[in-house]
Amino acid sequence: MRIVLPEGTEERTLQAADILIKEKIAHIILLGNPEEILSGAGKFNLSNIEKATIIDPRNHPDIDRYVDMMVELRKHKGLTHEEAGKLIRDPLYLATLMIKAGDADGEVAGAMNSTGDVLRPAFQFVKTRPGISVVSGAFIMILNDREYGEDGVLVFADCAVHPDPTESELAEIAVATAGTTRAIAGFEPRVAMLSFSTKGSASHPMVDKVINATRIAREMAPDLQIDGELQADAAIVEKIGQSKAPGSSIAGNANVLVFPTLECGNIAYKLVQRLARAEAVGPVLQGMAAPINDLSRGCSVSDIVNLVAITATQASDK
Ligand code: ACO
Repeated sequence: MRIVLPEGTEERTLQAADILIKEKIAHIILLGNPEEILSGAGKFNLSNIEKATIIDPRNHPDIDRYVDMMVELRKHKGLTHEEAGKLIRDPLYLATLMIKAGDADGEVAGAMNSTGDVLRPAFQFVKTRPGISVVSGAFIMILNDREYGEDGVLVFADCAVHPDPTESELAEIAVATAGTTRAIAGFEPRVAMLSFSTKGSASHPMVDKVINATRIAREMAPDLQIDGELQADAAIVEKIGQSKAPGSSIAGNANVLVFPTLECGNIAYKLVQRLARAEAVGPVLQGMAAPINDLSRGCSVSDIVNLVAITATQASDK
């Protein structure tokens, strides 16, 4: 799969690209000033970088074609040729247009750009998959303690994108996360819809949102193993699940945790990552029409390698 890395001059990105090319994980397209890319490769002795496709966003031969596409896709928003001509020089926009035009299969960025800056061009030009209205981000949490989830692995969502989903958006996030779990984590999802209430222990509009989202997700995916509303302990600890939600096949046994808001999901994954020293792989963006994934600016070289490998898997599944 052809994976485009718009931050082609960034040091960790270059080191990751060298490993990805050497291990034949993906064909790498680096965007950036070719001289800077090659001098960075020389500085770190990265002998495989010469096998990457290197594209200078200032001189791409297909710029005019991409600008026409941009104007066509955003004319309802009033995008002019002049504005599109400026935007396309931004590697984050160029990467998404390359994907839209079929010149690349996926993208990974975010080592030096914020989540919003990575996602905005993707939302505008690549857009969501048919039937999906909302993009969200899942983390595959690999715990040292194998007692919880699927032999110590849990999938968390949304931890990265959509601040305050409606009940139907939350249902979509649950169904999308189940798909990511099958495709990337490689096991059958048992989804818990998390709340501060378990099966009516509290009543509040925020609890109703989770109850309704669970119902809608069941309608969207009748075969999906899903239950809610559940508190986190009732979702993952067998004894507590049995006592708080007797009869639920998910309570105490969940391997996918869907959080009611981005605040909960983002805080939860970072706490588990730090306090339990779990490995957090992701965020894997789900619901986008093509695989585009966002890194944390604090990412390591191996985080980039992992996320490109996941992106290539998503692209080949597609
Ligand atoms: N799914 C699909 N499309 C979306 C979504 C979404 N979740 N959110 C916005 N869009 C679309 C809109 O429909 C709109 O499309 P249009 O221009 O064709 O009408 C376009 O994107 C822009 O929408 P805005 O509402 O203007 O969105 P904005 O650009 O202001 O914000 C963003 C989108 C940046 C993703 C915002 O929701 C955000 O900042 N989210 C939080 C990201 C974040 O900081 N996460 C935590 C850090 S990540 C980490 O820790 C791993």
